[in-house]
Amino acid sequence: MAKTPFHDRDGYIWMDGEMLPWREAKTHYLTHALHYGTQVFEGERAYDGNIFKSVKHSERLLNSAKIIHMPMKYTVQEIEDIKQEVMEANGLVDCYFRAGAWRGSEQMGIDVTGSETHMAVAVWEWGSYFDPEVRAKGVSLKTSQYAKPAPHTAPTQSKCAGLYVLGTMAKYEAQQAGYTDAFMHDHEGFVAESSGANIFLIKDGTLHTPIADRFLNGLTRQTIIELADNLGLHVNQRRIKPEEVETFDEIFLTGTAAEITPVGKIDDHLFTPGEITKKLISAYDGRVREQ
Ligand SMILES: Cc1ncc(COP(=O)(O)O)c(C=O)c1O
Repeated sequence: MAKTPFHDRDGYIWMDGEMLPWREAKTHYLTHALHYGTQVFEGERAYDGNIFKSVKHSERLLNSAKIIHMPMKYTVQEIEDIKQEVMEANGLVDCYFRAGAWRGSEQMGIDVTGSETHMAVAVWEWGSYFDPEVRAKGVSLKTSQYAKPAPHTAPTQSKCAGLYVLGTMAKYEAQQAGYTDAFMHDHEGFVAESSGANIFLIKDGTLHTPIADRFLNGLTRQTIIELADNLGLHVNQRRIKPEEVETFDEIFLTGTAAEITPVGKIDDHLFTPGEITKKLISAYDGRVREQ
């Protein structure tokens, strides 16, 4: 059965100061963001009515906008209030948020003079990012032919729409080859992340994760580092060479959407979700519901 398209659903979307019926939250074809990728966004999850790391997400939204030189009209507190209103208007407690801000149709062209920033927040029920059956066994990743861009070639610390074109290409190609997602290296050839989630690799009881100075330092990644520390597990943030991958015992992805997703395969190398991954999944499940 075809999935209900996102524009044709019930509910409410907050947009530019108004709580609009879902189907009326529209933008014009000549919207700057649609032509030049000038949108920044957040993906957030609420558990039992509490948005996990809500303030951190709102702060990151403002920071993403600042990086791409896009002025924002709302403060962190105002964004917090809007998210609450949207969740209440939609009568949801366990849900996924998309808060976004973009350059509108006041201006076309690469020159952004006269452009205005628009903002919207939508929320909907969204279970597992990956198919639950696939997730239980561990997802499969295929090394992408594309590298994550170097920080001086793209706004790598901004959660900016334009950056995601590469991720969609990488993920599409991995899926065409029968894998769940892409395994991406950085511009220097070290392990980076998947198309939309950070990565942790475990060996001899220690977690290893790439230094997040060239891709998004995910809030889930930061939470895992905290939780591992609480569990007495050492986390080694370092450059990781792709040829090391086969030497690890357990691997998992982290992200707001992906939460903690075990990896069962990278290219031809197989991994089994083990005790440490399971412990961290359980610690994360507890942590997101504990506020
Ligand atoms: C490219 C990329 N890396 C990592 C992450 C994980 O970030 P977070 O844990 O803050 O959701 C995301 C998701 O936002 C992402 O899109």
